[in-house]
Amino acid sequence: RDAFCARSVYGLVLLDRRHSAMALYDTIISGGTVVTASDRILCDVAIKDGKIVALGSGLTGADEVIDATGKLVLPGGVDAHVHIAQPSGEGIVMADDFESGTRSAALGGTTTVMPFCLQEKGQGLRAALKDYHAKADGECHVDVSFHLIISDPTEQVLGQELPALVEDGYTSFKIFMTYEGLALKDREILDVMSVARDTGALVMVHAENYDAIRFLTEQLEKRGQTAPRFHATSRPIAVEREATHRAISLAELVDVPVMIVHVSNREAMEQIRWAQNKGLTVLGETCTQYLVLTEKDLDGLGMEGAKYVCSPPPRDTESQEACWEGLRTGVFTIFSSDHCPFRYDDPQGKLTPKGRTSFRWVPNGIPGVGARLPVLFSEGVMKGRIDLERFVAVTATNPAKTYGLYPRKGTIAVGADADIAIWDPTKTQTLTHDLIRDGADYTPYEGIEITGWPVHTLLRGKTVARDGEVVGQKGLGQHLSRAKSPFAVQRDPVAS
Ligand code: URP
Ligand code: ZN
Ligand code: ZN
Ligand code: ZN
Repeated sequence: RDAFCARSVYGLVLLDRRHSAMALYDTIISGGTVVTASDRILCDVAIKDGKIVALGSGLTGADEVIDATGKLVLPGGVDAHVHIAQPSGEGIVMADDFESGTRSAALGGTTTVMPFCLQEKGQGLRAALKDYHAKADGECHVDVSFHLIISDPTEQVLGQELPALVEDGYTSFKIFMTYEGLALKDREILDVMSVARDTGALVMVHAENYDAIRFLTEQLEKRGQTAPRFHATSRPIAVEREATHRAISLAELVDVPVMIVHVSNREAMEQIRWAQNKGLTVLGETCTQYLVLTEKDLDGLGMEGAKYVCSPPPRDTESQEACWEGLRTGVFTIFSSDHCPFRYDDPQGKLTPKGRTSFRWVPNGIPGVGARLPVLFSEGVMKGRIDLERFVAVTATNPAKTYGLYPRKGTIAVGADADIAIWDPTKTQTLTHDLIRDGADYTPYEGIEITGWPVHTLLRGKTVARDGEVVGQKGLGQHLSRAKSPFAVQRDPVAS
């Protein structure tokens, strides 16, 4: 009898433990090295209801255990600069919809993307947002949060719509100093910046001098210099440096922070560093293409160079060095893909009939949302140019902080969303488009030897990609409303 009792009591305890264990955690990621923007530590990560609920060693009591022994456990990437399903005019179609763009993000270890919602001329911002939400809702494999592109800063837009949308969580917008139909005049830039200052929004600037580009393009075309490589000639460093300095000066006049996006070279980087040293809140972003591509890539046989047409264009190895320096020294706090995909071998992509006649008509932008993290990991961390903590900072923590998603996104901490990329730092492979699987038909990073790869991606605790395959249903990704950037508003120094 005693033995029976003991057994049943023991049984009850076991049952009880198992019961409480099931209630304790959904998933434990065990035995990996957890890396944040400031620390790396061998510990387990426990997840419950999509959140990280415990960090510690020897954690037990989960429905599912993911063995991460020998792996790195990093916050899922936050790609703060992507273009998905943006209309491009002239019958040109972007190669990604929200399903394929976010699929590639998940495969590349990114769990939040920040695409642009483009206001077309004459269109209201709410109407534009309605279109983009209709395209994105239910389609995404990772979380998304829109920035606005302001192309038509009417009184209605500046006075009514923009302030209301900032309060609704669309707390950043991009403006262009170049591109037909997008470029704002200096006066318009000042007006948009004033609204940003008054509402606590963050302005992102595409800094290239429109008139200078047009002038140079016309000269090149007159000489018959129309091949893709002349795209780079039409937008030399001075064009970017001048506009960068002007954007900084305009922001200084308005007394508003500004983010200079996709910086490609030393001279532009030095304008930002100069402003930072002067005490201005000027932030900088660089992108994959400026670290590993050069102008020479535009010089492909036939029209192949069109695969690399993006703006600003890739420069030279000295510019690459400068961009690494900017990342290492903190001039650039954000590293993005500027994913902007067009199919190459497609009359609706890079090579429309018009696109074949001159670089001027080749749509600007290259794919890269899936390649961003592996390329930076391999070229940056594995080659000793940046350390792991800075890798996490520039690819996840800083973008989340800068754009009002932190601490929900961008770190591994109790209370954060369980957005996690588990990396195998020893996996080596040659980069091909198969590994990236966005909607384009090539990757500009084809052939780079990559060491380290995100082998398992979780979004709010659910596996979205594993061993090179997307797992589960599209539609798990949600749209995120954002807080105001801490750079743009005075925050209570104690409250988070
Ligand atoms: O060439 C590029 N970068 N196209 C995408 C649009 C932009 O300017 O970011
Ligand atoms: Zn939506
Ligand atoms: Zn841009
Ligand atoms: Zn862009």
